Amino acid sequence: MESYTDEFTQLKEQIDNELMSVVPQIEPQSLYEPIRYFLDIGGKRLRPILLLLSCRAVGGNTKQALDTAVAIELLHNFTLVHDDIMDHDHLRRGHSTVHIRWDESVAILAGDGLIGLAYRNLMKLPQQHVTKVCTIFTEGVIEVCEGQAFDKEFESRSDVTLGDYFLMIGKKTGRLITMSTRIGAILGGGTADEIEILRNYGSVIGIAFQIQDDLLDIMASEEVIGKTFGSDVIAGKKTYLMVKALELVDSQKRNRVYNIIKSKNITAEMLHEIQQIFQDSKIVEQANADIEASFNKANAILNQLPRQETAAGLREFSERLLNRKY
Ligand code: IPE
Ligand code: IPE
Ligand code: MG
Ligand code: MG
Ligand code: MG
Repeated sequence: MESYTDEFTQLKEQIDNELMSVVPQIEPQSLYEPIRYFLDIGGKRLRPILLLLSCRAVGGNTKQALDTAVAIELLHNFTLVHDDIMDHDHLRRGHSTVHIRWDESVAILAGDGLIGLAYRNLMKLPQQHVTKVCTIFTEGVIEVCEGQAFDKEFESRSDVTLGDYFLMIGKKTGRLITMSTRIGAILGGGTADEIEILRNYGSVIGIAFQIQDDLLDIMASEEVIGKTFGSDVIAGKKTYLMVKALELVDSQKRNRVYNIIKSKNITAEMLHEIQQIFQDSKIVEQANADIEASFNKANAILNQLPRQETAAGLREFSERLLNRKY
């Protein structure tokens, strides 16, 4: 276990170094400074680590996949900078979001710049992988946009079902995670079966990851997660917890939830009231049970891989993700 922890740190360091080195040190400052700022204030680097571990799991050398892993992280950061504008969030990774520290124009452009840098890095791919990997990457970008569009549409809807929710998160969050596992497996020279097994693995942990994110938004402290407490409730997001609550609680409580999420000024007291409703109606418990079941399923999927030895890093990855606090 310890050695894997060290290994994760090493992979993260490689990714961090490479990430900073791909941002040009030239003018205009108003483009590159916010990009550098955002990459520098933190981030768990989960997607590139996952890509590298998937590459290794099929017997590949992670060195060959580093540029693409960095491309995935750049893409992820693009989605976050724009997501913070869309979600009106002030805090990310414990620091001000780009549109707050600068302004919306700067943040829109920083996001655009990040996706450009992502593609620039992606084009360093070995020739034999260009078409396949670029197709997966590009389709992924489009699907994340679809997911984000559903996420925004659902804010003003009160009839969102759990099925709608899973479709939305599969796109906005799951897709980047399955992209990472699939591309890692391709670059590692995996067989069609191995690539498919790792796609399934990514799909299961991606969903669990977003349910955790929803849970942390209302159950964890701002200091620990580095994001605004209760931001989802304030924005009227149809999270796992909110969709379940609107479905399960009695009509009196449901009306109270509606009144809160429709109110113009949502107070800390109201957020704690929502938190209490999620807890009392056992929705928090259910979310945790769902998350744990997903991770067990993910490990069962990993059992299908022919090389169990090299898949150990992914097992450690799921375990860390299951226990994450931020
Ligand atoms: C946040 O992702 C966005 C979601 C899909 C929930 P992360 O929690 O991986 O964010 P960073 O990169 O570590 O800040
Ligand atoms: C993140 O969803 C999805 C993408 C950024 C594509 P959230 O809006 O829940 O992510 P956080 O909570 O702001 O990190
Ligand atoms: Mg957000
Ligand atoms: Mg969002
Ligand atoms: Mg969130």
